[in-house]
Amino acid sequence: MENDIHSAAVAGRALVFGGSGQIGTRLLTNLVAAGWQVTAVTRQARAPMPGVLWQRGDLSSTNLPCQGVDAVFSCGPLDHFARWYAASRIDAPRVVAVGSTSVDVKQDSSEPAERDVAQRLRQAERVLFESAAARNVAATVLRPTLVYGAASDKTLTAIAALAVRTGFFVLPANANGLRQPVHVQDLADAAMQVLGCPVTAGHAYALGGGEVLGYAEMVRRTLACLPSRPRLLRLPAPLFKLALRLAHAGGRLQGMNAAVLARMTEPLAFDIEPARRDFGYAPRAFVAEAAMFIAPPADAA
Ligand SMILES: NC(=O)c1ccc[n+]([C@@H]2O[C@H](COP(=O)([O-])OP(=O)(O)OC[C@H]3O[C@@H](n4cnc5c(N)ncnc54)[C@H](OP(=O)(O)O)[C@@H]3O)[C@@H](O)[C@H]2O)c1
Repeated sequence: MENDIHSAAVAGRALVFGGSGQIGTRLLTNLVAAGWQVTAVTRQARAPMPGVLWQRGDLSSTNLPCQGVDAVFSCGPLDHFARWYAASRIDAPRVVAVGSTSVDVKQDSSEPAERDVAQRLRQAERVLFESAAARNVAATVLRPTLVYGAASDKTLTAIAALAVRTGFFVLPANANGLRQPVHVQDLADAAMQVLGCPVTAGHAYALGGGEVLGYAEMVRRTLACLPSRPRLLRLPAPLFKLALRLAHAGGRLQGMNAAVLARMTEPLAFDIEPARRDFGYAPRAFVAEAAMFIAPPADAA
């Protein structure tokens, strides 16, 4: 087992999908620091990044480098990547792709769209592992749970933005289901670590953070680190539901559906022991800092 991400595997040529995303950006930095030659596929023009060749394209592109690539990384939609990989002629001996714990968490959701997400993730993992095995390629899937740290996630950053705007954030009193938020850097490091560990081939790993805490405590810490110190209010669950119904009727908070509400009470903690054992995964505890949730103004970036 190898712990130093910068010596986790001999550097070579990497092809990266989703390199502009919150996990992907950290992965590009890791790869460059470790001496890899990096080609990152993107659908839009991107600011130059030392050591990274941005190539315009997407997961239906046929003009991507397929020869001489040592590792392919996917930090974008897994279903699109699995389809691209199965159809491509790429000869890279190593594939590392990011999936999601939603593959399990959402499979029995009350929302058909969520069940569909779980089903697409499951199918994508199957296609990816089967096509990799057929080519004798070592593929590993990393399944993060709730991701934070880059001030662009759709959970804690969205909560922080709303709380900063209004001065408070409201949760139902029973929102105490367990959470295991995982920092983007720990995920990018995991993608490097698995490279040097052949035992990870053909496996999918749940990747939570280094601390399990209640939903309300996670939100409390997030709000407490913000400069304006928004307040966390708790409402009895029936009152919260009523308020949410009114918000929906007014066209607001549409993303907070019945399934999301139900999950706030559910324990979403994952066994990260296989990842610790197989590649030395050692994620940080949830220590909230404002920069993890509030992006700097564009001209300060
Ligand atoms: N955020 C979470 O809480 C969370 C939790 C569990 C799992 N995940 C999974 O982890 C992966 C990475 O997450 P992330 O939050 O870092 O993602 P992200 O910030 O949303 O970025 C994903 C990147 O993928 C590329 N992409 C998106 N849609 C695409 C498409 N249809 N075709 C080709 N490229 C596309 C985009 O790059 P360009 O715009 O440059 O093309 C985008 O920057 C995703 O698979 C996500 O499902 C995320």
